[in-house]
Amino acid sequence: MRGGDVRLARRVRGGQWPNCIWQSMQRSGFDSSQMWFAETSNPSRAGQDPVETSSPVIRAKRSAYEALREPLRRLGFGHARWPRTFAILDLIFDPRGTAASYDREFAGRADPWNYAGDPRELLRHRLAIEFLDRARGRRKFTRALEIGCAEGVFTELLAVRCESVLAVDFSQLALERASVRLKGIGSVAFAQWNLRTDPFPGSFDLIVVMDVLSGILRPGDSRAARSRLIAAMRRGDYLLVGDHRQAPEFENSWWGRALVRGGKWIVRGFTEHPALECVEHATTETHVLALLRKR
Ligand SMILES: C[S@@+](CC[C@H](N)C(=O)[O-])C[C@H]1O[C@@H](n2cnc3c(N)ncnc32)[C@H](O)[C@@H]1O
Repeated sequence: MRGGDVRLARRVRGGQWPNCIWQSMQRSGFDSSQMWFAETSNPSRAGQDPVETSSPVIRAKRSAYEALREPLRRLGFGHARWPRTFAILDLIFDPRGTAASYDREFAGRADPWNYAGDPRELLRHRLAIEFLDRARGRRKFTRALEIGCAEGVFTELLAVRCESVLAVDFSQLALERASVRLKGIGSVAFAQWNLRTDPFPGSFDLIVVMDVLSGILRPGDSRAARSRLIAAMRRGDYLLVGDHRQAPEFENSWWGRALVRGGKWIVRGFTEHPALECVEHATTETHVLALLRKR
């Protein structure tokens, strides 16, 4: 370990953070071993996780920022109060750039976003399914790709509407839970796959990417992911895209648009794309969703 890592690690471990923040960091699953042993990343992940290739110092700083972000938000010092500051910090540190950041959420508890009980999430999934049902009529989609399947809540709804589904996620823990949930459903296969880096695993008449692109916090990376998604589609293929909304500071500003922050701008990037036709669109209290078809 180099000197910089030791200094940063000691700052975090040495109690210079206010106690409530430190406890909150631990509750939120902050893994201090990452600070000390940043160089011992899992070699089987190499090539899938772009952040794993960063220097240990950058990884340690990113890890500290990621661990602080949520507790600070809960204390009222997050994006809502300083949207621009946090947007810039997100841009620098890219705190959702690793599978590890999601693994921590899944390790913290099952169903971390309360998909099973939150009426706003249930509404979002219902609207998305209604879009798909209107588009498919009596037939099933032939081959669907669900990107960022998490624990498989939406996969389950998708499975009965498709002849086959490839459900992918870069979080191994999410995939394990999803495969338990869908055990015995032979038409669904799971694979670890990273939207940012991995080649597309084939052709699909339906691609689903919901609440995933908001984790890509650098606008260049977000635009690159959008281009890759569109390039992977053939004429007539469908894309279901959706993401959660952000505070009005993001939704109503030129810089929110430039940073591609939040569901409104993420989805707008697809609905305004000349290669795509918007078939369905909805805005709820928490989300923006669209079903698009390649021209
Ligand atoms: C908030 S959950 C969304 C779950 C589901 N798509 C839904 O909308 O109900 C985001 C999921 O996307 C996965 N994810 C985030 N970035 C990813 C990436 N670059 N490649 C693959 N999966 C990713 C996370 O691991 C997590 O399981």
